[in-house]
Amino acid sequence: MKKRLQSAALMGRFETMFQCPMCAAEMTVADRKSLICKIGHTFDIARQGYVNVMTHSPAVKYDKGLFEARRTIAGSGFFEPLCEALADRIKRAGLPAGKTVKILDAGCGEGSHLARITEELQIRSGRRLLGVGMDLSKAGIIAAARQDREAIWCVADLANAPFRNRSMDVILSILSPSNYAEFKRLVSDDGIVIKVIPKSGYLQELREAFFDAPQKLAYSNQDTADRFCAHFDLEDRMELTYSSVLTQRLLLPLINMTPLSWTAEKDRINSFLKKESAAITVDLDVFIGRKKAK
Ligand SMILES: C[S@@+](CC[C@H](N)C(=O)[O-])C[C@H]1O[C@@H](n2cnc3c(N)ncnc32)[C@H](O)[C@@H]1O
Ligand SMILES: [Zn+2]
Repeated sequence: MKKRLQSAALMGRFETMFQCPMCAAEMTVADRKSLICKIGHTFDIARQGYVNVMTHSPAVKYDKGLFEARRTIAGSGFFEPLCEALADRIKRAGLPAGKTVKILDAGCGEGSHLARITEELQIRSGRRLLGVGMDLSKAGIIAAARQDREAIWCVADLANAPFRNRSMDVILSILSPSNYAEFKRLVSDDGIVIKVIPKSGYLQELREAFFDAPQKLAYSNQDTADRFCAHFDLEDRMELTYSSVLTQRLLLPLINMTPLSWTAEKDRINSFLKKESAAITVDLDVFIGRKKAK
């Protein structure tokens, strides 16, 4: 209950940021328990401290186990260089002073990256910050809301986000699908959009261990770059490559946090799990863009 009241208070402080995903009307927090629009569309704030604005339960690919595994791996520091690089990049973006910087993580999963990035940015910049995490997966958002770090968590479709035009200063899209038309609607005129996609070396050791002819990543980064640049002025592109040694107890969570293991043979997974440790590559492309000048 405490969690619901805390979340309702936080959402109430920032209620002008919300818009109804059904009719686009303004929303307010009513009775410290729901978000309600002018027409009466109502979305209850759950006792775990998130709001679900979906009107149906979409089929989602990822389950609770995958998000728990991602949380364990994130907690080991595996994504630390990424979170630090993003916090540093946001700090250098020159966002207008004097107001709370609102950071939306679209497709935030279990929310570790948003919590870590806002924590780090707070330390580095001393700015007032609001983290907003949104994901289609209820299991992901429930895990996200369980964290101590204060943030607004929503089960929502990033193609129909429950936020007003220009309400966000930073939009993060980390290893998740994007909807650039929606991102353009949501980002403030002096805000930035950051898109992180995997490069061919990302988790390559897993692909080598599991498959005889390791598939290339399905993403074509050139296509992604072209699409990003069609919507935003590319301000910066950073390539981030590092290797992190995971001890044996982290190998099962590593396998469980990625769909790569879904198609791998059991024997191969078992022999990988017998290793004492493994050096695993993180290989990412980061695009930073701003709204195109009209
Ligand atoms: C590979 S996971 C990445 C999660 C997180 N950003 C991370 O790096 O750990 C992709 C996420 O995108 C979410 N997702 C996919 N389609 C979505 C949509 N239309 N709206 C919101 N989230 C979506 C999935 O539920 C999943 O949590
Ligand atoms: Zn409405």
